[in-house]
Amino acid sequence: MKTSIKEIPNKYKISELVHQKTYLVNGELKAWKGDFTEVKSTISSTEVYKPTLLGTVPNLTEKEGLEALNAAHKAYNKGQGMWPTMRVADRIECMEEFAEQMKTKRDEVVKLLMWEIGKALPDSEKEFDRTIDYIYDTIEEYKQVDRDAAKFEKHGGVHAHIRRGPLGVVLCLGPYNYPLNETFALLIPALIMGNTTVFKPAKHGVLLLSPLMEAFQNSFPEGVVNIIYGRGRVLATPIMKTGLVDVLALIGNSKSANAIQANHPYKNRLRLVFGLEAKNPAIILPDADLDLAINECISGATSFNGQRCTALKIMYVHEDIVDEFNKRFAERLDALKFGNPWEENVVLTPLPEPDKPAYIQELIDDAIDKGAKIINKKGGQTSENYIFPSLLYPVTKEMRVFKEEQFGPVTPIVSFKNIQQPLDDMAASNYGQQVSVFGSNVKTLAPLIDTLVNLVCRVNLNSAAQRGPDVYPFTGRKDSAVATLSVHDALRTFSIRTFVAAKDTPYNNAILEELLDKKASNFINTDYLL
Ligand code: G3H
Repeated sequence: MKTSIKEIPNKYKISELVHQKTYLVNGELKAWKGDFTEVKSTISSTEVYKPTLLGTVPNLTEKEGLEALNAAHKAYNKGQGMWPTMRVADRIECMEEFAEQMKTKRDEVVKLLMWEIGKALPDSEKEFDRTIDYIYDTIEEYKQVDRDAAKFEKHGGVHAHIRRGPLGVVLCLGPYNYPLNETFALLIPALIMGNTTVFKPAKHGVLLLSPLMEAFQNSFPEGVVNIIYGRGRVLATPIMKTGLVDVLALIGNSKSANAIQANHPYKNRLRLVFGLEAKNPAIILPDADLDLAINECISGATSFNGQRCTALKIMYVHEDIVDEFNKRFAERLDALKFGNPWEENVVLTPLPEPDKPAYIQELIDDAIDKGAKIINKKGGQTSENYIFPSLLYPVTKEMRVFKEEQFGPVTPIVSFKNIQQPLDDMAASNYGQQVSVFGSNVKTLAPLIDTLVNLVCRVNLNSAAQRGPDVYPFTGRKDSAVATLSVHDALRTFSIRTFVAAKDTPYNNAILEELLDKKASNFINTDYLL
């Protein structure tokens, strides 16, 4: 499982380190004079393995965290700032400007995505392109939301002009597995709806923001986007303690989400937008098309090494087909190519967290102690930055890998006789994001689907679990999410309905008509945004 450094194409070599010397606060890229943290890749650039130094980022203190918060607070100005009161068309213009500038940075961002988090080249390109699409789709959707609101309603003798307004200051914390896409899928809707933001990148996937800093600075008014670097505990804790954060938007795990939100002094004021952990099961019924099921399960379990909240993390296979399924799944798994992200046809790539192979090994050891076996030949083979995916069978409830979200390359297989078993397990589990069901008999599928939709929020029929297309709702039950994201839902999530009401009297109507005629208000207008 060695990767050769000779294969690093020139365009992907680290010829220059990226030193992020500034942070973005109040529209200024402020030079940081304090400590810096080294950013290293687990990918080696030398024949003898050695993590590669990629650059440095500021290690900001509480003071700079609060400075960024105050800038966002000032720009929002309790709803009276320029950004939250601006015309929708003007906010859209800023966003378009940002997207145009961002597009020019594709190569730099994609290269850093590969080095920082080990994401394969096609997936890194997809992450960038999907994010650009997300921005344009959000703009179009907001125009539609605005068009739908460009009218008056009248009920019970009261005219009403209803729109969606911003919520305030958003603290935005993204994950390392989609450091661009998932973070921007929070940041973009939050901004376009008129909120102001403080954004702190995740531990891995941080330098890839450097090429975009100027675009943020150039495109938005001062204080609307503030970007800080450093440790969550040092920065997020004091920020939350001020009580000035109106929305905590976080993609990560429930433990840190709970710890961060607990610091807020006014619980009822804080809105939460969370995408959290999941343990999405695949259920393979005896009448499933096995070729199709194995294809989908391989991609669901192994794409980006299983480091996706939507990955298939446990497989329930009917006992009549489990031996055949295991045999074929194991062969397919062993045939997957491991290599550096830019290598052709590579599926498995280095893990960005240096301690991840050891953690996966712990799960394997625990399962083996309790009676499971690794059933694929290469399963568990370890190198400095990887552990080859293991297929573990038979897995039982007592094993850690049954319960814990592995977020890495190991797949537990549970065999079942009665469909009630996976249903009961799912009902008892702390997670509730998605499930994949493989089968064809409508009589079996129908009641199963009717139950599964109440246990999770997306039932994938003969298909792997996934978030996209991004127009579909992305959410979960129990510990898997708070609030719903999609291009449309995110606009709702980061805003609140607010309206102007006036009794239907000649006096009021004359005022409303004049407001409309003179186009004096950014809120009361019925302009149709093209
Ligand atoms: O980590 C969770 C991501 O939202 C998964 O998105 O299903 O498109 O890979 P994806």
